Amino acid sequence: MSVGIDEVSFYTSGQFLDLKTLAQHQGIDPNKYYDGIGQEKMAMPSLDEDIVTLAANAALPIVERVGRDAIAGLLFATETGIDQSKAAGVYVHRLLGLNSNSRVVELKQACYSATAAIQMACAMVARQPARPILVIASDVARYDLQSPGEATQGCGAVAMLISDNPRILEIAPEVGNHTEDVMDFWRPNYRSNALVDGKYSTKIYLKSLKRSWENFTEQSSVTYADIDYFCYHLPFGKMAQKAHSQLARVNKSGQTPEQLEQQIEPTLLYNRAIGNSYTASMYIGLCSLLENSSQDLSAKRIGLFSYGSGCVAEFFTGVVQPGYQAALHQQKHQRLLRERTELSYEEYLKLYHYANPTDGGHHELPEQTQGNFRLAAISEHKREYIAR
Ligand code: CAA
Repeated sequence: MSVGIDEVSFYTSGQFLDLKTLAQHQGIDPNKYYDGIGQEKMAMPSLDEDIVTLAANAALPIVERVGRDAIAGLLFATETGIDQSKAAGVYVHRLLGLNSNSRVVELKQACYSATAAIQMACAMVARQPARPILVIASDVARYDLQSPGEATQGCGAVAMLISDNPRILEIAPEVGNHTEDVMDFWRPNYRSNALVDGKYSTKIYLKSLKRSWENFTEQSSVTYADIDYFCYHLPFGKMAQKAHSQLARVNKSGQTPEQLEQQIEPTLLYNRAIGNSYTASMYIGLCSLLENSSQDLSAKRIGLFSYGSGCVAEFFTGVVQPGYQAALHQQKHQRLLRERTELSYEEYLKLYHYANPTDGGHHELPEQTQGNFRLAAISEHKREYIAR
């Protein structure tokens, strides 16, 4: 039976910092960011936005099309948890008006968890084909100021409907995994910013790719040459270029640099303008490929490499379905990115330093987001979300 991604929609904040501004303030060459790490802008959430509002905004177009009662479950993937008990997806379930006879759960394994959610959703749909599952990945990437990671922040959410006979991408069941207990990137519960051993993390990412690929070739008859395009986890664009060169080398592909670039370049465009959105980033990269490729991708095989620090990694593939273009939200996504506001360095710092109150009092948050949902207040330690 055919199971996979039937619809995909993403959302990010309406404001960004241009990395030129960051470089100017740091007194360094902006090309370190534009060319060296392959990023131009990073999205910053407004004070009344978080993983819940980003997620609800991403999923709204899907829910409006299929209807609130059509969704059998919501799997919410994040590493920016807002509560250690309650799943963030339960707030989203209410904001979207989903049926109370549906299940909701939150999943965590750094940037890998959206892929785990998709594989679980595929298994659930294979058991009950008439019951589609909504997978949402939503994250805010934050690092310490003046740390090497500062230029790789960002935020975003992506919502995907997993169904039988999917209109966009049929996902093949064979996967290659690599799991290893390492400390390359982590965020203890008492910290709001991630800690990262940057250079080590890139090495572990590449090692995990090699190991996942080796495992994939043991599980699947699909070869490197059978894959037309590659979506990699995108902490920053240059990482995908390093990863793809390595995979081509491992497979002795003999491709030219231009041929390698063509297989990944369309996946990088949206993330270049959004920054890292952790577990959402590879799937925003998939959207970028589907919506920006100059080719008709029908029947093309896409290789996807998902990496979550700590670490768990997975290589899998999917085949683009004929007529997929009709299921895309290309215009909405491109308008969202076009209509954003640029932040000054001072505005960026002000947003960065804001910390949610923890005193249990009633605190209303300023109305800043242009989205359909906002975090209106934090009162008696409860987050109050509203639709507008
Ligand atoms: N013009 C053009 N290029 C320039 C340049 C200039 N003026 N100045 C420097 N560069 C190049 C460098 O040569 C280098 O290129 P190569 O990597 O090809 O050698 C590149 O810009 C980066 O420069 P540095 O190595 O000096 O950068 P850095 O050490 O300051 O920071 C980083 C790089 C360590 C990746 C940092 O951004 C970081 O810590 N990021 C967060 C961690 C991360 O994203 N890790 C990725 C793997 S983990 C993961 O994937 C999970 C996740 O989402 C976090």
